[in-house]
Amino acid sequence: MPEKRKKLYEGKAKIVYETEERDKLILEFKDTATAFDGVKKAELEGKGALNNTISSLIFEILERHGVRTHFIRKLSDREMLVWRAERFLVEVVVRNVAAGSVVKRLGFKEGERFKKPLVEFFYKNDELHDPLVCETHIELMNLAPMEALPSMRETALKVNEVLSKLFSDKGIILVDFKLEFGKLPDGNVGIVDEISPDSMRLWDAETGEKLDKDRFRFDLGDLLEGYRKVLERIS
Ligand code: TMP
Ligand code: ASP
Repeated sequence: MPEKRKKLYEGKAKIVYETEERDKLILEFKDTATAFDGVKKAELEGKGALNNTISSLIFEILERHGVRTHFIRKLSDREMLVWRAERFLVEVVVRNVAAGSVVKRLGFKEGERFKKPLVEFFYKNDELHDPLVCETHIELMNLAPMEALPSMRETALKVNEVLSKLFSDKGIILVDFKLEFGKLPDGNVGIVDEISPDSMRLWDAETGEKLDKDRFRFDLGDLLEGYRKVLERIS
C-alpha cells in the first residue's frame, strides 16, 4: 500500500500528497462542494467517495479504450493513486448540447443539440473566472505546449464518443464535460484531475432531470442523490 508523505497541494475538491515513489501521487477527494470559483461552498458527507468511485470507473473505461490518463488505481473510498504529471493550465471543454457558459456567452438556447461536438479551451485561473482562450493565447501565455494541442483535441473528442455511449446506454445525456491534461512521467500527454459529475453535465434522457453539479450551483435538489443515480446506472 503506497504511503502518504508530504502534502503537495490542496485544491477546492482534492488534496494531493507525495508518496514514497517520486512518480506517484495520492489524490484525496474532499467532501467539499464549491461553485462559481469557490464563492458558493458546502460540506457534503460522502461526496469525496462518490467522485472518487465515479472518476476511477471512468478512468478505467477510458484506459480500456486506449486513452492515456494519470489513473493507476483506486486505493480507498476517498483516495486514488495517480502518476505525477506536469499539469497544463488549460481546461478543455467538449459540448454536445448547449448549457452553462455557452448559453450566456453566445446566446445558444439551453438544450439545443450542436450539429457537431464543440471543443473549447479555457485558461485555468479562478481569479479571472477561467476565461475562454484561443490557441494564440495559449501560445503567448505558455498555458500548454502547442504541439500537444491537436492530440488534446483528438483525445477530448474520443473521450466524448466513449462517454456519450456509456451514458446514453444508461438513459443519460452527456451534455458537456471538462478535461485537464498534463505530461506524464513517461513523457506522454494524458488526462489528469478527475472526471466526475463535478466536471460534467448529465441529464436524464427521459425526464431531463439534472444529475450533476448544477443541482448544487442552482439549488435544484440534493446533490449526492444525483451523483448516486449516476453511479448506480454506470456500475
Ligand atoms: P461551463 O458551461 O460553465 O463553461 O462548463 C462546462 C463544463 O465544464 C461543465 O460540465 C462544468 C465543467 N466545469 C468544470 O469542471 N470546472 C469549472 O471550473 C467550470 C467553469 C466548468
Ligand atoms: N469548479 C469551479 C468552482 O468550484 C466553478 C464551478 O464549477 O462552478 O468554484
